[in-house]
Amino acid sequence: MQRDISKVLLTERELSDRIRELGKEITRDYNGKPLHLVGILKGSVVFMTDLMRTIDLPLTMDFMAVSSYGSGVKTSGVVQVIKDLSTPIEGKDVLIVEDILDSGLTLSYITELLASKDANSVKVCTLLNKPSRRHPDVHLEVDYEGFVIPDDFVVGYGLDYNEKYRNLPFVGVLDPKVYGE
Ligand code: IMP
Ligand code: MG
Repeated sequence: MQRDISKVLLTERELSDRIRELGKEITRDYNGKPLHLVGILKGSVVFMTDLMRTIDLPLTMDFMAVSSYGSGVKTSGVVQVIKDLSTPIEGKDVLIVEDILDSGLTLSYITELLASKDANSVKVCTLLNKPSRRHPDVHLEVDYEGFVIPDDFVVGYGLDYNEKYRNLPFVGVLDPKVYGE
């Protein structure tokens, strides 16, 4: 499987060091208040489970699944809710946890959707950010971000290509020969 990776972008150590910093920042900002994490399936699962253990607050969690990608490497711009929240977020301080911000269409849709449900606050935490790929109509503010990365298709640490590579413990650049470019 590692033959399909042209370069390791973020090592296990780099990921865990940065996530610990994010956890400290979040813990400090919410100042003892209960926090409700909403992870976006499936890409955020690995990040979410590591991040939550670095946050020292009364914490609850939920997941949502949306599809915007189909199976390719380019976004379709169409966002569909596949799995909705299982508990109401009314009055809660919600932190959306996402794997990667690419065009930003997925996250801006979800942020607006959750903001319309009377949460006390809705903030965004993304592990990876590719600002160069942002769709011109998206003006999303990211509250917490792990790493800004270049415009390469990456996999591992939860991120997939055609549902594969999520179990790699690092983030690597997928060799373009795998998706035929
Ligand atoms: P956006 O709506 O274009 O921001 O796309 C966000 C979603 O696309 C992420 O949650 C990922 O599931 C997927 N995605 C975007 N870029 C990559 C990448 O480089 N590798 C793997 N998945 C990606
Ligand atoms: Mg994905």
